[in-house]
Amino acid sequence: MEKQSVKKVKEINRRDFLKTTAISGIGLAVAPSFTFIKNPSGEKVRIAFIGVGGRGRNHLKNILDRDDVIVPAICDIDPNAIAKSKEMIESKQKQKFEIFSDNENAYLDMLERNDIDGVIISTPWLWHTKMTVACMRAGKYAGVEVSAANTLTECWDMVNTYEETKVPTMILENVCYRRDVMAVLNMARQNVFGELLHARCGYRHDLRGVKFSPGVTFGEGANGEARWRTEHSVHRNADLYPTHGVGPVATWMNINRGNRFVSMTSHATKARGLKKYIMDHPKGGANHANAKINYKLGDIITSQINTANGETILVTHDTNSPKPYSLDFELQGTQGLTEFDYNKKRIYVEGKSKPHHWDEMDEWLKKYDHPLWQKHGEYAAGSGHGGMDFFVDNAFVETVKRKTTPPLDVYDAAAWSAITPLSERSIAEGNAPQYFPDFTRGNWINNKPIFAVNGDEY
Ligand SMILES: NC(=O)c1ccc[n+]([C@@H]2O[C@H](COP(=O)([O-])OP(=O)(O)OC[C@H]3O[C@@H](n4cnc5c(N)ncnc54)[C@H](O)[C@@H]3O)[C@@H](O)[C@H]2O)c1
Repeated sequence: MEKQSVKKVKEINRRDFLKTTAISGIGLAVAPSFTFIKNPSGEKVRIAFIGVGGRGRNHLKNILDRDDVIVPAICDIDPNAIAKSKEMIESKQKQKFEIFSDNENAYLDMLERNDIDGVIISTPWLWHTKMTVACMRAGKYAGVEVSAANTLTECWDMVNTYEETKVPTMILENVCYRRDVMAVLNMARQNVFGELLHARCGYRHDLRGVKFSPGVTFGEGANGEARWRTEHSVHRNADLYPTHGVGPVATWMNINRGNRFVSMTSHATKARGLKKYIMDHPKGGANHANAKINYKLGDIITSQINTANGETILVTHDTNSPKPYSLDFELQGTQGLTEFDYNKKRIYVEGKSKPHHWDEMDEWLKKYDHPLWQKHGEYAAGSGHGGMDFFVDNAFVETVKRKTTPPLDVYDAAAWSAITPLSERSIAEGNAPQYFPDFTRGNWINNKPIFAVNGDEY
């Protein structure tokens, strides 16, 4: 977005916000940019960071763009990531901040500070649960990147720690906030599709150039996620990254709130893509050491989930083959269905659509645009991933500020992340059904939806 138009949008949103808050009587602090509600004491919230690599710095940028947050500390073990983040903070914030980078447990020292309200965790997967649990134990809200856990034990660790400490954790699943995903949520809540029957989703992202960088290298000395992510493809045959697809579906189907994931079977194709990539790469070839590794991850993993309310969900993990990016969404009910993603948007609703013909979805998306997007959409468009990153960070900050529970909580984090170990076990046992633990301990029966129900605020 052009600088000028961002400024204009901020002004428009600010006027809009002033109008709304004046009506509701909420206190204000006027700032030159987008104005956020201050917490009751009028103080800014203090959000620290563990992990300021690629993703951590996306969050950092969004947080530094706000006038209601201070960044008191950051932690990372990579001097390069620290240097880039330091520059970002210094260019935006007058207040001093502390850097923790001595060793991989430096985050524990950071958590001893008593002026941190919340922590955004964007580290490699194997650190997520440890760090989340440490935050809760230190009395700091945790916002953890996806997936939140790698094993069922880790899922329970998060849930048990939350129940013991009552310090909330939010899973930062930004796709739940995608504009079309939220419009479909609105449609589902307004019964457009009738009673829900089935959903399809997945993570279909050609990650070969991410898993190997530079060239065909991974592990120590590689770039970005190739330093740690590829290792999972070597050792695990599972849906390694389920939440971008399953998170949105879980909000549509009220998982953990009147519904829950019950059981799942998973299937894996053979593993070919990663080896082929190395063999075909100008810097690789058949004799390259990485071409001789037996990558365990099947190229395409498909899982079929059964819910307590009788729906099925087909989830795909597909990261080792050439293809355009897609999360491949479908939602179907007794009255109609939609299939949509970046490159396809169509809907069919009996009684509204011409019989047996798909409708273009644009008018439907406009009609059911979620109030959150109507409110903040133009401003959000300047943040990452088409705007959804603004919403997920905003929800975390607002949750911390209001000292309330987050819209995507520790039970969501556990249920969605559990797909990885359960799919792994199903595949290992010849596609045998696996059963989801009920992380809510029966509370799903009476729990009410909490995602995107806060009017037009967060
Ligand atoms: N939601 C999204 O759209 C989205 C997008 C990208 C990545 N992610 C997720 O964000 C997380 C981070 O991914 P990334 O792309 O930023 O990876 P990255 O490798 O670029 O960054 C990870 C950072 O964590 C740091 N780190 C590792 N161990 C640490 C420790 N013990 N203490 C402190 N810092 C440590 C690394 O030095 C690195 O800077 C992953 O879970 C990934 O799946 C989510």
